[in-house]
Formats: sequence, structure tokens, C-alpha cells
Amino acid sequence: MNPAHQGSTHGDVESDVGRVRIFDTTLRDGEQAPGFSMDRRAKMRMAHALEDLGVDIIEAGFPQASPDDFAAVAEIARTLKAPTVAALARCQAGDIDAAGKALEGARHSRIHLFLSTSPLHREHKLGKSKQQVIDIAAEAIYRAKALAHEVEFSAEDALRTEPDYLAEIFSVAVEAGATVLNAPDTVGYTTPAEIIEMFRYLRANVRGVDKAIFSAHCHDDLGMAVANSLAAISAGARQVECTINGIGERAGNAALEEIVMALHTRRPLFKLDTGIVTQHLYPTSRLLAEVTGQAVPRNKAIVGDNAFAHESGIHQHGMLKHRGTYEIMSPQDVGAKTSLVLGKHSGRHALRQRLVELDYDIDETTLDTVFERFKAVADRQRSVTNDDLVALMGAYEADN
Ligand code: KIV
Ligand code: ZN
Repeated sequence: MNPAHQGSTHGDVESDVGRVRIFDTTLRDGEQAPGFSMDRRAKMRMAHALEDLGVDIIEAGFPQASPDDFAAVAEIARTLKAPTVAALARCQAGDIDAAGKALEGARHSRIHLFLSTSPLHREHKLGKSKQQVIDIAAEAIYRAKALAHEVEFSAEDALRTEPDYLAEIFSVAVEAGATVLNAPDTVGYTTPAEIIEMFRYLRANVRGVDKAIFSAHCHDDLGMAVANSLAAISAGARQVECTINGIGERAGNAALEEIVMALHTRRPLFKLDTGIVTQHLYPTSRLLAEVTGQAVPRNKAIVGDNAFAHESGIHQHGMLKHRGTYEIMSPQDVGAKTSLVLGKHSGRHALRQRLVELDYDIDETTLDTVFERFKAVADRQRSVTNDDLVALMGAYEADN
């Protein structure tokens, strides 16, 4: 068993103090985004990597969406040992039964039900009254409870729902047997201050609140998904739903690696742990890029090529003296490496260091000339490689 899962709680609310559960939805919300769909084989490769990463819950798919998705969820459910395997379902009998069937082989299964609750969605998408929505949710939860170890209820578009109505539908959901209450910011509209207010309100007003945990599920339409997830955590959410590289509908979901490393790097502030084996973050991110064919942006936090790369002379000089000057976390902690990139912004210290690494014994006079020639090359091209340096040194030695 992955050590990250030892002591995993699976619904034991009390022992969750100090621990945030990571619910990974790369294989469901992530793959729903254009350009990121994954077939069964790709999903299996990712599912194994996510298990090794130490996620608590893997949302494997939406079984009613297609026969291949059903088969992928069923295979993941049969194969994985440590994480809870979740399957998405609308509050409809067909979806719920398909999810239950796909999850049959799981050691620990969860049906994830969702139903819109905001006025806009109630009126225009569902055409239902407040009470009708509540009744549909309750009936669906009763049905799902008989088919899985646990039930999560998501109030779609929760952050644009009237708080008192949201508290009411969540109270009914707990009564019907849901043990995870998810308040998604479906359209990425909320702000950190607002989500804090909503989660505090829910914790104070949902009946039977001790029988469930609150979950946040934030989208990135305004670039605040990670900030909002952390804000929800600070207001009592003990599960966050997120994806590798932040992939997901439209601008994406909250990025798992960013939430995890924020909690890890600022642990004295949050005082919360996750079960994530952080050294697996970079390899898992790269595997996702490989199976989807979508490159990770260079400047992506935590896992982008530039996340631990330094080119400017001032930064490189600082880094050579003390890594903490320009790195707030160790690249090894996320399974990556620091790179000092040589380019037009680099200084003498970094050039000398690289030449020493390449086994050149270099005095100050040589360095003066080579540095001048290096700057000329750096002005012509974006970066200067080791091969360029060997050529420069060869030319210098030939001239002298
Ligand atoms: O964004 C959303 O509301 C969802 C739900 C299905 C949880 O993805
Ligand atoms: Zn979503």
C-alpha cells in the first residue's frame, strides 16, 4: 500500500482534523475539456500514476456518458487498491444505476451525484421549483446509497445559489445519507472573500453537519480557482476537487499540484496535510502531457519548465550563494530539477560555474574574453547550450 494512504479515513469525520482530502478529477472534469479526452488505456496509465501520487479519491469518469467511459471506470474500480474510486451521475435513475454497476469491483466506491441549485440553472436548465430540486436530490441519494460505499452530493453552480437554499438542500442531502457535500464554483465566478463567507455560512447552517465533510470544486474562469480552493479550505472545507496541470472545462479546474504545494510550502500558515507524495507531482504532470499530447506551459507553477529555471545574472548569482534567495520550495520536493539557463541575462558567475562543470580550468583573463563572446552569442539566440560553450572555448583556445 502507498504509505500516503495508511490511516486513510473513508468517512471517519473525526480523524480528518488537520488533513485535507485530495479528490482528483483529471479523468472526469479534466478530460471533459476539448483536446484532453483520454481513452481507456490512457485513463488506466493515469489512474496508476494518481494512485502512486497518493490521491485520496479518483473520479474515474461518467459511466453513463459512453460505453468506453463505463469500461474505464469499471477497470479502474477493479484495479486500484488504495484510493476511493468515484463515478459521476446526474440525479437520474439510469445514471445512478450505471455508476453503481461500474463501481461494483471497487474496494471503496463513491457515487458522485450532481444537480443544479442556482436560480439561473433551476429556471433555465431544469425548469424546476426549489422544492422539486430538493425532492429529486433526496430520491437520488437514497437510490445511490444502496449501490456504493458512500455518496457525495454536488450542488452545481453552488456559489451562485441563495445561501439559505443551499444550506437547506445540503441539510436534506445529509439526512438522505450523503457524507460529502460539494459546493462547486461551476463557472469560476467567486472570489476568495466570497467563498470563505459561503463555507462559513454552510458550516453554521447545515443540519447534521457533523455527519459530512464539505468539499470545494473551483473552476478557473477568472484565474482564481486555486486561491478560491485555499480560501474554502481556510473556511473549513476538508476535501478539494482538482486536476493535474489544472486541466478542465473552459479555463480549467484548480490545479492539484498548486494546491498541494501551497499547503506544503505554507504549512505553518494552513496547519494542514495532504497524503500526496509530492515527489511524484512532476512525473505525473509529464505523463498527463504525454497521454493527452498537450504540452505543459513553460511558466506553469510547480511543473512548468521555467518553474525552477533561472536566467538573469542577479538571480543566478543569488542562487549560487543560497538557493532560498529565489526558490521558495525545493525542486526535488516535486520531482523536478533546478536549471540555470544561460542567456543574454546571465552573468559571469553562472558562466564560470557552467564552464567548471564542463571541466574547463578558467582564469579571470580567459573569462573576460569568453564572457564577451558569450554575450554576443546570447544576443543572437534565445539560450546558450553546453555545445555552444564548448565551441566558444575551442575558438578561444585556437586564438590564443
Ligand atoms: O463544475 C461542476 O459543477 C462540476 C460538478 C459535476 C461537480 O463539475
Ligand atoms: Zn467542474
